[in-house]
Amino acid sequence: MTELRFDGRVAIITGAGGGLGRSHALELARRGAWVLVNDLGGALDGSGSSASAAQRVVDEITAAGGVAAANDDSVATAQGGEAIVQCALDVFGRVDVLINNAGILRDKAFHRMGADLIDQVIDVHLKGALYVSQPAFRLMREQGYGRIVNTSSASGLFGNFGQANYGAAKAGLAGLTRVLALEGADHDIKVNAIAPIALTRMTEGILGELASKVSAESVSPLVAYLTNEECAVNGNIYSVAGGRIARIFVAETYGVVLKENTAEAVQAQLSQIDEVDATRFHEPSSLDSETTIIAKALSEVA
Ligand code: NAI
Repeated sequence: MTELRFDGRVAIITGAGGGLGRSHALELARRGAWVLVNDLGGALDGSGSSASAAQRVVDEITAAGGVAAANDDSVATAQGGEAIVQCALDVFGRVDVLINNAGILRDKAFHRMGADLIDQVIDVHLKGALYVSQPAFRLMREQGYGRIVNTSSASGLFGNFGQANYGAAKAGLAGLTRVLALEGADHDIKVNAIAPIALTRMTEGILGELASKVSAESVSPLVAYLTNEECAVNGNIYSVAGGRIARIFVAETYGVVLKENTAEAVQAQLSQIDEVDATRFHEPSSLDSETTIIAKALSEVA
């Protein structure tokens, strides 16, 4: 197999001062990419900031013989998004790859969730991806090349208690992925998404036995493929954890045409409307059920 390289390519990775972003940054740099390591350097709940988070990862990359620069702008404003992309242009002269990865958590049961928690999480995850993607996408259109990976989550695609803000933002990223994939298709811009599960500060203490099997590093090979020139897919969303990868897709049942279109007819024929004819599909009903599928698949190969 020919090694998938990134020589001459410039990658922006948001929230790359730790966890998954750091791992992606090291992986792409190891394969020859020049990497802009962006990270605000705040706490898990989004509070505070520190330029040293991004710089530490830059130092790691440089020590390993790679090329990287640090940036500590926040993804959560339009100006921040512009500044991040401009920084990559100033330092490296172009942008080929964008990995929207920055994220925070502000979990609370929906009936007790204040507007501040809604705004902060939507701002970083969903608006942040829009704000950084837009200037990057414009450059990619002009140059006729680009690769974008968005970081969605099983939480939004399948549901998870206490994460209305986060789940809504993450499902929004799936929509963004589908739309940008269409808009970029004629310009060799490929936009895909991942729904990872990995042991990072975000998931410390909640993964149970799975924790030892799902390192951040186990997610990055898929991200390297999806951001490489050789990437053959566009608009796809992948569940990825511990080396287990599956495509998540939105499907629908065959459907029913009601003879009499009334609420009572819907009630009477609901089972036909909802009936899924599938023998080889996984259909996770929640983040927990997705986690169980992953755990089963991983334990079967172990
Ligand atoms: P992490 O907390 O280690 O990484 C997130 C990074 O984003 C942090 O370094 C943080 O400083 C940075 N960040 C936060 N707000 C920012 C802002 N406004 N501007 C720039 N950087 C900012 O957590 P992890 O797990 O590595 O998360 C990476 C992404 O993966 C997130 O989007 C998260 O929601 C997503 N994810 C992670 C899962 C997991 O199992 N770890 C599951 C599903 C999704």
